[in-house]
Amino acid sequence: MTYATKENNLNYFENNNLIIMEKEFILLKPDAVQRGLIGELISRFEKKGLRLIGMKLIHVDNELAQKHYLVHKGKPFFDKLVEFITSGPVLAIAVVGNNAVSVTRTIVGGTNPAEAAPGTIRGDFGLDIGRNLIHASDSVENAIYELGLYFNENEYVNWSPISEEWLYE
Ligand code: RTP
Ligand code: MG
Repeated sequence: MTYATKENNLNYFENNNLIIMEKEFILLKPDAVQRGLIGELISRFEKKGLRLIGMKLIHVDNELAQKHYLVHKGKPFFDKLVEFITSGPVLAIAVVGNNAVSVTRTIVGGTNPAEAAPGTIRGDFGLDIGRNLIHASDSVENAIYELGLYFNENEYVNWSPISEEWLYE
């Protein structure tokens, strides 16, 4: 069995503990970009300690939107989802961290901003479920699928932030 190492920057053993560094996909939707909230929202993930490994401003086309929202195909709000995500620029972000998926979803907050907890991104910045500012993959498997839609492997930046020595035991 080949164990991952610290050098590959993902999963590695330290003091006999397996450190599982998940990759997570985050997308700042057109409302976040149009409202000038990119810096404010990225800073929440940066301050939390998640490692940024990819970021790009793009305009999602219909084909990519259909793939992104495949799991919602057939639902009543599907067409509106596709229409909205293709309506303006979005910021696609890839991060790495211990439990990155659940940590990110906690920072993002509940789907409906009207009910999302204060302190979360949706709870602090939104009012409407159709304008909830941000998308984040809801599982490790979906993160891998969605990252694959938005990033090529050679677009990730492989680096070791000096802060991680102080973020992880
Ligand atoms: P996301 O995928 O965007 O991170 O959001 P989520 O996991 O919290 O919510 P999900 O159930 O995956 O829904 C995807 C997006 O669809 C819109 N939505 N509208 N009108 C409705 O009942 C309804 N339900 C969901 C939201 O914009 C949600 O982000
Ligand atoms: Mg979702």
